[in-house]
Amino acid sequence: MSGMRPRLTRCAGRLAAGVLLLVSAGTPLRADDGYELWLRYVLVSDAARLAQYRSAITQIVVEGDSPTLDLVRDELTRGLGGLLGRELPTSARSVHAGAVIVGTRASSPLVAALPLAAQLRAVGREGFLIRAMRVHDKPAIVIAGNSDVGVLYGAFALLRQLQTQRPLKGLAITSAPRVQLRMLDHWDNLDRSVDRGYAGGSIWSWAELPGTVSPRYADYARANASLGINAVVVTGPNVNARVLTPEYLRKAGAIADALRPFGIRIFLTARFGAPIEIGGLATADPLDPVVRQWWRHKVDEVYAAIPDFGGFLVQGNAEGQPGPETYRRTHADGANLLADALVPHGGLVLWRAYISSDRTSPDRVREIYDELVPLDGDFRRNVMVQVKNGPLDFQPREPFNPVLGAMPRTPLLLEFQLTKEYLGNDTHLVYLGTLMEEVLHADTFRKGKGSTVARVVDGSLHGSARSGMAGVANIGSDRNWTGSIFDQANWYAFGRLAWDPTLSSGVVAEDWVRSTLSNDSTVVATVRAMMMASREAAVSYMTPLGLTSMTAASNHYGPAPWVTNGRPDWTPAYYHRADATGIGFDRTATGSNAVEQYAEPIRARYGNRENVPDSLLLWFHHVGWRERLSTGRTVWDELVSRYYAGVDSVHAMQRAWSTLAGKIDEERFRQVQGALAIQEREARWWRDASLRYFQTQSRLPIPSHYEQPARPLDFYMRLRCPADPRRPRCDAVR
Ligand code: GCU
Repeated sequence: MSGMRPRLTRCAGRLAAGVLLLVSAGTPLRADDGYELWLRYVLVSDAARLAQYRSAITQIVVEGDSPTLDLVRDELTRGLGGLLGRELPTSARSVHAGAVIVGTRASSPLVAALPLAAQLRAVGREGFLIRAMRVHDKPAIVIAGNSDVGVLYGAFALLRQLQTQRPLKGLAITSAPRVQLRMLDHWDNLDRSVDRGYAGGSIWSWAELPGTVSPRYADYARANASLGINAVVVTGPNVNARVLTPEYLRKAGAIADALRPFGIRIFLTARFGAPIEIGGLATADPLDPVVRQWWRHKVDEVYAAIPDFGGFLVQGNAEGQPGPETYRRTHADGANLLADALVPHGGLVLWRAYISSDRTSPDRVREIYDELVPLDGDFRRNVMVQVKNGPLDFQPREPFNPVLGAMPRTPLLLEFQLTKEYLGNDTHLVYLGTLMEEVLHADTFRKGKGSTVARVVDGSLHGSARSGMAGVANIGSDRNWTGSIFDQANWYAFGRLAWDPTLSSGVVAEDWVRSTLSNDSTVVATVRAMMMASREAAVSYMTPLGLTSMTAASNHYGPAPWVTNGRPDWTPAYYHRADATGIGFDRTATGSNAVEQYAEPIRARYGNRENVPDSLLLWFHHVGWRERLSTGRTVWDELVSRYYAGVDSVHAMQRAWSTLAGKIDEERFRQVQGALAIQEREARWWRDASLRYFQTQSRLPIPSHYEQPARPLDFYMRLRCPADPRRPRCDAVR
């Protein structure tokens, strides 16, 4: 655990504020290893703003005591101290002009005396108000909530206001989360390996728990709380069932204790086969009374160790695990078994709709919908079904998952993948805010126009009692948490959008840049533009025009469109279907008809070759190489032009970043510069390998005004991604 900074105690917080003052005033570009994420709290750079802030904020008054209120006091002391470059008094004895008054009506007599009761009722348990108002006839800023954690969220919101250098005058923020469960899913194993993790090992050090609780857990929880994330699944879907033994439950209990003051509840993965694997039973059949009894006892044990335990995330019949299908039972039978055991304690089952059964499917993209939608109404009330954003598997671009909106009687929890399994891992700069926004703003038309995915997620479309959004975490033991600076932005964007799925990804990107890198207007505009274009760039050089799943099946990193051997529905050739006549997967009525899973008018739009957006063309249609698109180019020429445009966008990002030398601290500047150079090489690899391969089918030339791929196809077929212990399967052939 060397190199990790302990969480600040209350007085250490004051000390740190003083140190920050010295450091940030003298050297605004101090070296930054990324540990502080978006919570850097450096001195406000705009002198006029700084003067306004210093006169508006002179004192911190947090009345009451609780572990969470102590955190609020620490955070404001540390944050305002750093941003204003001065230590603020925290006494509650008398209120000064410029006091920041913080609390709930229960914790703070000052807050209780203010005329805020009605407004507070409207923000619920986790919401908050921030108001510039007079208190004891003096100008003050009030942060009020209905719970201590609501107040903590409010404190972070005030700090963000200063970090992004927004005015404080007339401040009137009313904020409440639109989504109840705002959750990170770790795919971490008990040996500290992380499935699809690219930021070092797991942050959970199971071997030393519960005796040693790393201070890093609190730093992690603090970062989550700053975004409003309130739930964490600490283990991955394939984790060893030992996690449910008493020994490991004590360890998990210690993690839960560390996260609790930050308003975070933990969940664990339950392997469906656990009754066999650790219970010594002969079956895990969900309808077997002995199995049901076993789970009831197990759940009682879990709650004895973790009284506010959130529930189980379960994945049945995927990746070789037993599931309900093993016993010819349905997903609902499987989920309800656990739900019945959890209900006396108020726990939830998050049933992960990830199906990769042993059968090869004629169209894998259809499977989730076909299996789940008929079960709508069969799940217990404490079950949520967790679905990926698209029907396949976190590809650079997929249409929204047609299950979203199609199960009105089942609350759905939308899952995004922040760890960039198919998007260049930790190296490529790909801001996922735009991907999330594209999905959240998509209209399912399930209840007419305006039935957006965001409204499915927040529960308002069908009046669901539960709502949730999950992000597969990209966090590991690396000092900078996520393996690269820009991957921090994906954690950030997820948290902000889970709180409010209607937010614009551009606004979120800008807040992140201002909090993490700089408020310099050139930096803000340049980096925001890079981020906003970055995902489309990756789509263009990896999977343009609706292509999908073009990587080798094992590593999910480099291009391998030629792979045909192995299980068919895991090979790129299964998805692109390129042949001498054309390219693309026919999912219309003449093909797999997966398009029927969407409501009208989406079905008609996607199913019609003339109306389908170019971005999804080859997802839904098999089209001739020489057919013309709306751009006036043939399919082949359009494909070529997009692959080249993707690489050009990476060049543009490199040029843009290089203009920021001297405006970003050296350490982070160089890290990003180095990563962009790798991305540029690999974008060319994607382009050249893919086009060389598709040329063998299309028999058409790459127009001569493009720089031609340097090597023959054979060379690219033998290329492997660079050997790297962080990408263990990288050099696999398929
Ligand atoms: C495995 C699989 C991935 C998938 C993931 C999941 O890692 O190879 O493609 O994304 O499981 O659980 O969703």
